Amino acid sequence: MKLLHIKVSPDLAGSASRAASARLVEKLRTQHVDLEETVLDLAQQPLPHLDAFTIGAFFTQPALRNEAQLAAIQNSEQLVDQLFACDTLIISSPMWNLGLPSVLKAWFDHITRAGRTFAFTPEGTKVGLVSGKKVYCIVASGSVFAHGPFVQDDQFTPYIRVALEYIGITNVQFIRVDGTHDPVSRASALPHALQTIDRLF
Ligand SMILES: Cc1cc2nc3c(=O)[nH]c(=O)nc-3n(C[C@H](O)[C@H](O)[C@H](O)COP(=O)(O)O)c2cc1C
Repeated sequence: MKLLHIKVSPDLAGSASRAASARLVEKLRTQHVDLEETVLDLAQQPLPHLDAFTIGAFFTQPALRNEAQLAAIQNSEQLVDQLFACDTLIISSPMWNLGLPSVLKAWFDHITRAGRTFAFTPEGTKVGLVSGKKVYCIVASGSVFAHGPFVQDDQFTPYIRVALEYIGITNVQFIRVDGTHDPVSRASALPHALQTIDRLF
């Protein structure tokens, strides 16, 4: 099994999402002795945001790209190759301001590429070009989003679901570390997520 493990939380020591995804990797290893893990730590190596030159290079036909344009898209090309090379993807992230930390959004901006990860048929139908991947998405949040008054406020999981579907990935399992700040749920948030992971195996 080739696993790409995307880590987002900048809290390298105390992160709930990192603790949960570490358990998930441990469990995957018990089932797949051949597991090869590639870690993409976006907190320690953040990606640059797209600029006008890079976007111009994306939309230049591959055969016509000059050296500077090839250099500008090199990051994106490597990230797309890395995504195609895995069969399982873990996205381990906090929720920030109801949605994705911008480093994770930057990853989506680099891998969502016309002609590489999605394309259009001659009839104009969009097709995702990334298929056959299993995704586990672990999201830690201070409040509880699985139920209760904040359910509608969650912009994280809907975005991930649709953005992955856009490039052809539909097998997505969400695991919440829900309520890490909420006084009522704080004590049980991580243990509950770890139990959920254990029950998957
Ligand atoms: C900048 C920032 C924004 C946050 N926004 C939200 C939010 O909108 N909703 C929420 O429930 N928790 C929010 N939190 C709390 C985190 O989601 C929570 O602390 C989570 O456990 C962090 O994940 P980690 O422990 O893996 O770092 C925010 C935290 C930070 C630092």
